[in-house]
Amino acid sequence: MPFIFRVIIPLKFSVAQIICLLLFNNSTSKPFNFFVRLPNTLYCSQFIERSEIPVRVCENRDCSQFAVHYLLIFVYLLKIFTRCVIAKNQNDTVEKIVSLAKRRGFVFQSSEIYGGLNGCWDYGPLGVELLKNVKEEWWKAMTYREDVEGLDASILMHPRVWEASGHVENFTDPMIDCKQCKARFRLDTLTELISVKNKEKALKELDAASIEKEGSLDDKITAILEDNSRAAQLLDLLNCPQCGNKGTFTQPRKFNLMFKTFLGPVDDASNIIYLRPETAQGIFVNFLNVLNSSRQKLPFGIAQIGKAFRNEINTKNFLFRTREFEQMEMQFFCKPGSDKQHYDEWKERRINWFKNLGMTPEKLRFHDHPKDKLAHYAKEATDIEYEFPFGWGEIEGIHNRGDFDLGRHQQYSGKSQLYFDDESKEKFIPFIIETSAGASRSFMAFLVDAYYEEEVNGEVRSVLKFHPKLAPIKVAILPLVNKDGMPEIARKIEAGLRPYLRIFYDDKGAVGRRYRRMDEAGTPFSITVDTQTLQDDTVTVRERDSMQQVRLGTSALLSYLLEKLR
Ligand code: GAP
Repeated sequence: MPFIFRVIIPLKFSVAQIICLLLFNNSTSKPFNFFVRLPNTLYCSQFIERSEIPVRVCENRDCSQFAVHYLLIFVYLLKIFTRCVIAKNQNDTVEKIVSLAKRRGFVFQSSEIYGGLNGCWDYGPLGVELLKNVKEEWWKAMTYREDVEGLDASILMHPRVWEASGHVENFTDPMIDCKQCKARFRLDTLTELISVKNKEKALKELDAASIEKEGSLDDKITAILEDNSRAAQLLDLLNCPQCGNKGTFTQPRKFNLMFKTFLGPVDDASNIIYLRPETAQGIFVNFLNVLNSSRQKLPFGIAQIGKAFRNEINTKNFLFRTREFEQMEMQFFCKPGSDKQHYDEWKERRINWFKNLGMTPEKLRFHDHPKDKLAHYAKEATDIEYEFPFGWGEIEGIHNRGDFDLGRHQQYSGKSQLYFDDESKEKFIPFIIETSAGASRSFMAFLVDAYYEEEVNGEVRSVLKFHPKLAPIKVAILPLVNKDGMPEIARKIEAGLRPYLRIFYDDKGAVGRRYRRMDEAGTPFSITVDTQTLQDDTVTVRERDSMQQVRLGTSALLSYLLEKLR
């Protein structure tokens, strides 16, 4: 007989004893399961969904067994408690960053005064600078080389492009709706939202034998949901994560993620075009234009930064999955046979780019795609993942696309995409190595990675430790007081630096508070004009991370700062 009860944390020894005694006296001859649940009020509901832990208890008055059961309960509760605290801290971190992002003008919800638009975000004064710096650093790293050219293709493209690329046919997510509450879910990620108890029960009912087989519960559930002949049966046994009703899911159907619109004044099917879901296709269709106009030879690349749009079913985690976002993509065209070498080289270059801009190396890793999970166009693929507070997530994809793209565009356009190699006198379709980073996702990873809370003189300081190249404001200028000629000197220093650097002038409030405001904005240097400045024309330069100050003559400031910001 299942026995469900709630335990209040911290657990007292006596309470645990009573629990064990209760179990003791009510147990039947067979072992049975009971579930331990934390009070909903304590921690996030997402965690509560997963916190049911079956504990086996048997009917035996032997003291050692009693102790073992007690220990088991205690260990499980400790595990739950630890996971709760971690989950809470992770949620707190994201919440704190979202709140700081809004308060300091990094990111606002789109159309906020109308209640917001799901999956769309606006970049405020500091955000737009940070995003621009991320893109600028990418552009410099990718195109300030002799073998990569830049491009800016239009967002709207001929509809045949998306047939050739496979997006019309394949760019879909399987989707289901709840008939009761009308919530919509992606079938491939549904298992994350269903409680362990519900999954176990459903699997037992559908295929009891599989419970004992090797593999995690989630893998077993996912395998059934991917199997068209069995998915519907399993869906009938699952409860909707939103309203809790059982058997209310519709049949899975394919949902194309491309946004449609109409070209010209007539809204009919013959005028349908799409907002591009990736920037890559603009590069493929311009391969010959760039090759001929730039007089490049293989191997060479084309780089592009631009907006992409995907009608994601579930947007989540702030900027991580949005409906409108920016990509930074580079397609490297090479000779078949040399593709593996270029793929490996670009993998290393790309992960080092994140590290060189200060991202914590331990929070970066490659996730190689297994052969059976490769996208339809890929020969080999890896993701660069960052460890966000909610877990590891892809920030960039690197793919060996073989000759798929140029081959398909040759087939669909009827225009030859062959390359003539002067040396070998051969004609062939070049292979492509793609590096595809999300600008907005990288923005989020840099923001999360830079965020620290530190205790300074008994107070918590929130600081964004951006790499100086990424920092939205490079230098703050702060006159100690608003009198005695200090503002005049500060304004003069500002005028000298502003043509070279993004400056913030602040003369409001105590200097300590002004430093804190600059820490939160991620400003790496703050210059203070004080009483000594009036005598010897020197100022203090405070460094954000160490909070150390050096004294410099005003004439040495520009060269000092430019050197530090290089
Ligand atoms: N051309 C290949 C391509 O687009 P992808 O893995 O679908 O590959 C590349 O996307 C990158 O674009 C991802 O690594 C991610 O950084 C970013 N990205 C994709 N979908 C996104 C979304 N809905 N919101 C924000 N960024 C996204």
